[in-house]
Parts: sequence; structure tokens; C-alpha cells
Amino acid sequence: MAAINFKKITNLYFLKVINNMKKLQQAFLVALVSLFFLISCNNNPTTEQSMKKCSQTSWGTADNKPVNLFTLTNSKGDIVKISNYGGTVTSWLTADKNGKIADVVVGFDSLSGYLAKPPYFGSTIGRYGNRIAKGIFSIDTATYHLATNNGANHLHGGNKGFDKVVWDVVPTPDSLASLTLHYLSVDGEEGYPGNLDVTVVFTLSDDNTLSFDYSATTDKTTPVNLTNHSYFNLTGDITQTILNHRLQVHADKFTPVDTGLITTGVLQDVKETPFDFLQPHAIGERIASVPGGYDHNFVLNRTTADNELVATVTDAVSGRVLEVFTTEPGMQFYTGNFLDGTIKTSQGIAIQQHTALCLETQHFPDSPNKLAFPTTLLKPGEKYHTVTAYKVSVASVK
Ligand code: BGC
Repeated sequence: MAAINFKKITNLYFLKVINNMKKLQQAFLVALVSLFFLISCNNNPTTEQSMKKCSQTSWGTADNKPVNLFTLTNSKGDIVKISNYGGTVTSWLTADKNGKIADVVVGFDSLSGYLAKPPYFGSTIGRYGNRIAKGIFSIDTATYHLATNNGANHLHGGNKGFDKVVWDVVPTPDSLASLTLHYLSVDGEEGYPGNLDVTVVFTLSDDNTLSFDYSATTDKTTPVNLTNHSYFNLTGDITQTILNHRLQVHADKFTPVDTGLITTGVLQDVKETPFDFLQPHAIGERIASVPGGYDHNFVLNRTTADNELVATVTDAVSGRVLEVFTTEPGMQFYTGNFLDGTIKTSQGIAIQQHTALCLETQHFPDSPNKLAFPTTLLKPGEKYHTVTAYKVSVASVK
């Protein structure tokens, strides 16, 4: 009996050891998988979880690649959604002075809205923001012909700019309200020289600042001018125009354009023109004297190379304030002049003229052909690096 019991005990003991090893193995695997999910919000296609500041959902496919929608959340409860299709900011939910939450950027609820090629709603723009005259420029003895997608000119990177490609997602911890996107723009894409390796880091901080950190390297000299094309309406109501928003821009000069919206090369004083926003003015106050509406680059008064405050927009009704910070020398102020009601929101509301405004930080349009403008040429061995941030707050209720 004693021997049988001993055998049984031994067998049981070994079974237990084996079971424990299996459990250990399982625990190890679970720990490994959790660690992987913990460190990579961007590889974790789950629904939103409470401790996360970045989560993602599947948003379909484009170019046979998966497209996702990422949700960044901060401690104030602001929610920013960004897709890796076009590096697009699709939504920014934020409170007004009464605590009422609304979306302050124009965007769609689904990928199909973007596949229909709207005018760059929230997109990352590249390789070159704004226009290059006739899509032609030269570097040394070589002349380059870019895609002409805006009449005779090249606009926002061409037919398939960075706004229409699927960006790679670089894993970042989901405990951060941050998304890192990467794109390799190959030599010859849309006519540009050189393989351009681009990374954009989007971060929503707890003071309601959405920052864009752009970096790039190239293997051939190429123009680079990256920006974000968010359309803001601080009322959060797309049926309202932005004409009562007040704008201040720290710019003594702007770059006038010809009838094709190509910069003339002149840096004109804003004094005694409708472009003088050195003190805040309602956008609608003088817009009638700007043919077509505002669609102009401002030459920012910079005092340092830092990420400086360059513009402020306020909406008295909602109390919302938008501040723009950048390291860039210029900013395109565009009042949604070409919006004409043909594009509808996901809720079916027609998006009319002047119902949104863009403040696109950038180098000056057509710099590759205006050699007196600050250069946009990036050379092999150099690093392109710019930063822009939009901060939304509410003015104190009086
Ligand atoms: C340009 C406008 C253009 C708009 C949408 C702006 O950056 O300056 O002329 O219509 O983008 O494409």
C-alpha cells in the first residue's frame, strides 16, 4: 500500500510540476503578448480602454493596405482622431465656454469621404505645400517637371500627394496621446527627385495642444515643404461661417499672388491693406475687398527659431480660442473660398463657402522658383525638421 501510495504521490508530483510549467509557459506568453500590446498602441486593434490615451479602430483599406483611425485623448477630455490615410486629422472634439463639446475641424466619419478627394480636409500635405508655378523648377542644371493638378500649376504635392497615401504606423506606447506616421516617398514620385523618408509625430497634450513634428531626409536634393491642412470652425457648427471669427497674425508682410494664385516674388507690407491682422480683426470685416477671399501666405515676424506663437483666432460665441505656433517662416491663411456646398459632411450638411478656415504653416509658395524666398531645398546628409502646434482653449466667461 505504502509503495502504491508513494508511486501515486510521485506521479501526482510530476503532473503538478508539468502543469505548473505549462501554467508558467502560459503566463510567460500572456505577459509577452500584453507587453507587446502595452508598448504599441498602434499595433493593438482594440476598442478604447480607460487607461489608454491612444487607441485605434480599423477603417478599411486603400491601395490594398489597411487604414486605421487613431483616437488620442487627453486629461481634459479632448479627443483628436487621426487616420494613417493621408496623415489626416479627421476630428477634434473640444469644449466651448459652457462645457459643450463639439468638433472644431472639418472631417468625415468614414474613409469613403476621403477617398472622394475632398480639398485636403485635415490632411498632411507634401512633398510641397501650396503651388509651384507650372510644376517646373530647376536645381543646378537639372530641370524637374512635376504633376500639374491645379490648372497649369502644381498644388500640394500633385495628383497623389502625401494626403492620398497610406502611411506606415510606427509603434508608440498607448499610454501616450501620440501617433507616429512614416512615409517613404520614392525618387520620381509626382516628378520630385530623391527618395524622401518622412516621419510625422502627432501629439495631443493635456493643455489641448495638438502638435505636429515633421522630419525628413533625402538621398537627392529636393524641395520639401510639409504642412497640415486642417479646416477650423471654432463654433463647432459647420452651418455657421467663420466670418465673425477674429484673427490676429504676427506678420508685417504677405506674399501677393497673380491671377493663377502664384506668388509674385514680392514681400508686401500689410499696412493699409486688408491683410493687416497685426491687431485682431473680424475675418469678414474686409474680405469683400480681397478678390476671391483670403488665400495668401503671410511672412511671419519671427524673433527666434523656436516654435513661436504666430496667430490667434477667437470666436466670441463659443468662447473658443485657437493659437498657432510654428518654427516655419510663413503661414497660408485660406478662408475656404472654393467650398461651394457640393461636399457634404457625414451627417449630410453641405459645406458652404467661408464655413472653415485654414492656417497652414509653411515656407512661401513657389519657393523653388523664387530664389530670394527662404529655401525649401533639402540636401542629402541634412535633416528637415519643423514643428507646428494648434492650441485650443476657452476665454474666461465674463
Ligand atoms: C490653397 C488654396 C486651395 C486650398 C485647397 C490652400 O492651401 O492655398 O488655393 O484651394 O488649399 O486645395
